[in-house]
Amino acid sequence: MQLLTKSLFAAVAGLMIVSSAAFAGPADDAIKGRQECMKANGGAMGVMVPIIKGEKPYDAAAVADAVGKIEAACAGWSGWWGDNTQKGETLETWAKAEIWTDKAGFEAAGAAYGPALAALKASADEAAFKTAFGGFGGTCKNCHEKFRRPKE
Ligand code: HEC
Repeated sequence: MQLLTKSLFAAVAGLMIVSSAAFAGPADDAIKGRQECMKANGGAMGVMVPIIKGEKPYDAAAVADAVGKIEAACAGWSGWWGDNTQKGETLETWAKAEIWTDKAGFEAAGAAYGPALAALKASADEAAFKTAFGGFGGTCKNCHEKFRRPKE
């Protein structure tokens, strides 16, 4: 009897391990891609906001470098928002369900971002940079308000 109990327990424990083990998959890949892209956006803010606030002098090369990092990190954008990416296999996502229930709205928020980034990239002096930055920063807020869950 004791042996039976023991082996039953072992079997149950084994099942629990199998069912709780998760493996990275395609949703994780997409989530990782979009979070890396967003981290590059956050990094760019770290470079640009101090310039906007007057804490650092305008630096065209630093701005261009930050934009280049975003372009590289966000190149896979169109492949990251499939219906199967609402939940990761192992990774947590802060993407809101509204991305998939309001696809047109999410696409519009994404479509506003591309030209804003391009305007930032094209800005050649401090005045143009400051104007372009206003539009660029607005696109983050606009999308996050509707489509991103706060981290806390
Ligand atoms: C079209 C929508 C959209 C735009 C535009 C956008 N974001 Fe995001 N952002 C998201 C979503 C959705 C997430 C959550 C991604 C996830 O967890 O899967 C996110 C997450 C983030 C994160 C957290 C990344 C992490 O560590 O997990 C940062 C930082 C961020 N965004 C910064 C920015 C900045 C700065 C901008 C503008 C320059 C911007 N985002 C523009 C949708 C957007």
